[in-house]
Amino acid sequence: MSSVDAATKAAVGAWTKKDLLGLRGLSPEEIRLVLDTAASFREISLRPIKKVPALRGKTVVNLFFEPSTRTRTSFELAAKRLSADIVNITAQASSFTKGETVLDTVKNLEALKVDILVIRHAAAGVPHQIARYATSSVINAGDGSHEHPTQGLLDLFTIQDKKRRVEGLNVSIIGDIAHSRVARSNIWGLTKLGARVTVCAPPTLMPPQIEQLGVRATHELSEAIHGADVLMLLRIQHERQEAMLIPSLREYRLRYGLTRERLKEAKPDVLIMHPGPINRGVELDSDVADGPFSVILDQVTNGLAVRMAVLYLVSGAPKVDVEEN
Ligand code: CP
Repeated sequence: MSSVDAATKAAVGAWTKKDLLGLRGLSPEEIRLVLDTAASFREISLRPIKKVPALRGKTVVNLFFEPSTRTRTSFELAAKRLSADIVNITAQASSFTKGETVLDTVKNLEALKVDILVIRHAAAGVPHQIARYATSSVINAGDGSHEHPTQGLLDLFTIQDKKRRVEGLNVSIIGDIAHSRVARSNIWGLTKLGARVTVCAPPTLMPPQIEQLGVRATHELSEAIHGADVLMLLRIQHERQEAMLIPSLREYRLRYGLTRERLKEAKPDVLIMHPGPINRGVELDSDVADGPFSVILDQVTNGLAVRMAVLYLVSGAPKVDVEEN
């Protein structure tokens, strides 16, 4: 089994954070370090034997209190490709259903000497609370409507890979901005790396004063499409809405859905992105999702390399600071 290269080994020395809780708390240099490390890990998944011993002897726990396909699977594969041991725990199949608190669950996992906790929870801030308590590294795999840092990082990686830069690009994020942790992590990451970000949503799905995050806001899809290098579509997060915030999905599609017809307004080299899961025929049509401009499955592929990089970097960091954001 061959190991990682010298440059990748050096990267771990430059990373100082115990946890990865959000992109708000990362510097542009730290974001670039993750992207550069992910670039060197990407080739491992193309080898006949897709494994390096970088995290041999480490134990990773996927602790998911919300459903997931992409994030949970790619963290599991990332840990396995780095030779770590991985345990998957879902809320439905844990003692959480018997009334155990999240903190008690974590205390028990720490008693079993685990090294990295990957946590998804419906409530914003849960990974941050756990990180303050835990001596293991904590990676936020999505907390409520707050942040989804590894999704933001894999989106940055994909844009940089396809466009050869992030700085100076026009990126439009379209959909349920108000309830989207993906939107928040992308806004932090994209603006830190110098992209111009436009957010587009119906008034009921647009957070108040979103411009304070350094973005332009519009309710008009044509304004978001015009001049954009990247169109990032988002799902309507029904599970986080307390009331019906749009008249109907049909009406939403008419005003905000990306159809082949609306795509004619876009730049000829536009990238179409979506974090998944997709609602075909709502935020985008199948011929757009599966069309020549779509990099949606590249995002999934890149997510594996990015999560390998994140696991590798936090596993080598001194167990001291807890990021506050
Ligand atoms: N993008 C994303 O977080 O997908 P999953 O919910 O399937 O993990």
